[in-house]
Amino acid sequence: MITSGFAQGLALLCRELRDRDHDTVGVEDPGHPGEWKFIAEAGLRPVGLPVDRDGIQVDALTASGVRAVLTTPASQFPTGATLSAERRAQLIAWAEAVDGYIIEDDFDAAFVAPRQRMPALQSLAPDRVIYAGSTSKVLAPALRLGWLATPASLTARIERVRAGWDIGCPGLEQLTFARLIDTGAFDRHLRRLCDDFQKRRQTVNQFVARQMPGATTLAGGSGPQAYLVLPAGCAEEAIVQAARRRSVLVRGGRFYALRADDRPPALVIGYAGVRGPELARGLAGLALAYRETTGRTSA
Ligand SMILES: Cc1ncc(COP(=O)(O)O)c(C=O)c1O
Repeated sequence: MITSGFAQGLALLCRELRDRDHDTVGVEDPGHPGEWKFIAEAGLRPVGLPVDRDGIQVDALTASGVRAVLTTPASQFPTGATLSAERRAQLIAWAEAVDGYIIEDDFDAAFVAPRQRMPALQSLAPDRVIYAGSTSKVLAPALRLGWLATPASLTARIERVRAGWDIGCPGLEQLTFARLIDTGAFDRHLRRLCDDFQKRRQTVNQFVARQMPGATTLAGGSGPQAYLVLPAGCAEEAIVQAARRRSVLVRGGRFYALRADDRPPALVIGYAGVRGPELARGLAGLALAYRETTGRTSA
């Protein structure tokens, strides 16, 4: 089903889960606060589940008692961790055991390095996994174009709910997107974008190694942002504010956290919208903010 972005797909799925007597949905923590809001608006409670270098921790999921989970296995948002093969198998086994569902939010898989890429989770368990995609990261969020591939058992029900919400999404954008794909222009665009992001990621990684002593990236990093774990005791909000005074927008890890604050301080640097020279200027401002706040000077 074509949806008005993943946002509409998620709202539809939440409605369906509620009709099936779910009152909670597991979400990755750190994760996307906007999605938690959508889930809550739909009358469900988002339950935060910890994430590490291998993605969502399935043991915590099992212990949580939820029977549906929203996850970003290709490139965890915002840490960039890829869900390991072992966790993928565990996750599917969990869904079978609880008669539950996995919502696979595959919004930025296109940016994952080819050697790190794995087949979609949905290919392992099409009856348990709802696959969701979006053009928001690969083209533009303002297009509001997304899609859901649902298990057959859910499709007719979701179509019925959707029919009560709207008649469908604008067709012109869909036809244009199809043309971009058919002509190969989309493929070329993606390759260029991946190269660009790869270069920006390298710039950020080198910057962190040289200018932010003590900070480390949580995962290899594959999305258009880097999640930096800061040294214990670092005042993440003070760094965010010091950067902002220099017109540099970064966010603290707290912004992406759902549960009580027992995680190490962190910073998220988004580089999707900033090209080379702008990125260099932003990072220079961040280096000053880091030095001013922590007293740590470059390596
Ligand atoms: C984690 C995550 N999932 C999905 C999306 C796509 O959502 P939408 O298609 O509603 O813009 C985004 C934003 O681009 C995102 O950050």
